[in-house]
Amino acid sequence: MRPGLIIFLNGNLGAGKTTLARGILRGMGYQGKVKSPTYNLVELYNFSRLYFYHFDFYRFDDPIEWEEAGFREYFNTNSICLVEWPEKVGKLLPKADIQIFINIIETARNIEILAGTEAGRQCLNEWKA
Ligand SMILES: Nc1ncnc2c1ncn2[C@@H]1O[C@H](COP(=O)(O)OP(=O)(O)O)[C@@H](O)[C@H]1O
Ligand SMILES: [Mg+2]
Repeated sequence: MRPGLIIFLNGNLGAGKTTLARGILRGMGYQGKVKSPTYNLVELYNFSRLYFYHFDFYRFDDPIEWEEAGFREYFNTNSICLVEWPEKVGKLLPKADIQIFINIIETARNIEILAGTEAGRQCLNEWKA
């Protein structure tokens, strides 16, 4: 994980998007509480000189709400943005470096991870290694 990365988390309600976000933060060394941004739309984690934004756009009814909320400026080269429900904003969002699709299969989860940019591809290669 490095500054500038934009990661989309796709999956139905209860698929495990927030749980995965929590796991990513734990994996990066963040020890504090990680709560779902469902009501606040965004949670900021400022640690290890990182600005890590965890968004949840489930409550958006119209993509324009994203523009009006002023979230565009958070998507910059200094921050990591992890987005639940990116489809609620759609084409207004900057392109994702990595897209993670979570599907519930009975009691397990199937996870598909795709790179959308060169930065994303580099990242996935490092994760694989
Ligand atoms: N990989 C997993 N395997 C089994 N249960 C999971 C997994 N990921 C999440 N859960 C459980 O599913 C429920 C919903 O998870 P959550 O992360 O809130 O989903 P989402 O953010 O996609 O709505 C929680 O009770 C969580 O503990
Ligand atoms: Mg969630």
